Amino acid sequence: EAIQLEDGKHRTIDYMRISVTDRCNLSCAYCMPGKNHKFLPKEELLSLKELYRICKLVSEIGIHKLKITGGEPLLREGIEDFITQIKKLPGIECVTLTTNGTMLRKKLPVLKKAGIDGINISLDSMNPVVYKKVTGFNRLEEVLEAVQSCIALEIPTKLNCVVLKEINESEIREFVKMAKQYPVIVRFIEMMPLGEGSRFESVSGVLLRKQLEQEFGVLYSAWDVAGNGPAVYYHGEDFKGRIGFINAVSQCFCAYCNRIRMSADGYIQLCLSHPDGWNMKHAIRSGMTDDEIKQKFITLLKNKPAGHDFNLDIKERKPHDMWQIGG
Ligand code: GTP
Ligand code: 5AD
Ligand code: SF4
Repeated sequence: EAIQLEDGKHRTIDYMRISVTDRCNLSCAYCMPGKNHKFLPKEELLSLKELYRICKLVSEIGIHKLKITGGEPLLREGIEDFITQIKKLPGIECVTLTTNGTMLRKKLPVLKKAGIDGINISLDSMNPVVYKKVTGFNRLEEVLEAVQSCIALEIPTKLNCVVLKEINESEIREFVKMAKQYPVIVRFIEMMPLGEGSRFESVSGVLLRKQLEQEFGVLYSAWDVAGNGPAVYYHGEDFKGRIGFINAVSQCFCAYCNRIRMSADGYIQLCLSHPDGWNMKHAIRSGMTDDEIKQKFITLLKNKPAGHDFNLDIKERKPHDMWQIGG
């Protein structure tokens, strides 16, 4: 039987989100707008070797699912081989990737061969003008091509659409049609007031679902979607894909939290909106043994906060922005 890791609130923690770089080649309005961001210097990043060691150690104490995220994780050199390697770890059941999709298509054959369990692609608009407005770049076509390639390769694919009032709200129906026509999962995400996201108003996923039912008919709960996240899934009559909602603001799901996160420089963050954690890089670089690291993890988890508190002073959080935390 698989080993279980429990936090201080008796929640089973089996999922770790690993940010492999804080850099991104887009600059989404609610995440990393503008230019001149201060990225981590290369020597501050955990090397792929260090990352592999951490993955192996956590897999031995109860982490069975890994999410590779960023910034944009595909900017990290060697990431396909890294994914191939961690996928082979005996304790790891599931390795998934969350990417903006701009550099994805060419890397898909290797990822497929590695046995990747799913790819989430951020896509807030399918209209080139709106896409440029939100992300700052004209990369929509490459993303759409990557989506089609994922479908063709039969990789479980989720599209992450953060709903932005008056910006992409009018496109929601187009996204649902996409899920009706293709075997993809389209997820509508409520904007969380974290970092730059606090400048935006979130649109309630609960209301959105009710509106969509008026047009697409009854949406039935779908239990056949594999995932480790807080999304709730539905399908309509004759849908090839599914739609999902991540109602991070209107429906708190912290009671079922199953995850921890690690930033690209090794900071273990216990909760998305709390600063609490520990930087493992220094420990690793100062010669801490495997057993000591594992024990430190187990102890740390005892202090995982009960839930997110979006009202916490943002400057207290470190790192504070989504591109640094990895979502
Ligand atoms: P899978 O469905 O298993 O791929 O996982 P996921 O939904 O966790 O993955 P993804 O990286 O695509 O994240 C989607 C959205 O969920 C992002 O906006 C994340 O910030 C948000 N999210 C993920 N984990 C948490 C969490 O613990 N708390 C909150 N509030 N939001 C989260
Ligand atoms: N609230 C909700 N989702 C966000 N993302 C980035 N910032 C926020 C925010 N403030 C999303 C991205 C990506 C995912 C990893 O997180 O759009 O799809
Ligand atoms: Fe990059 Fe994702 Fe942030 Fe957009 S939301 S700037 S794609 S890290």
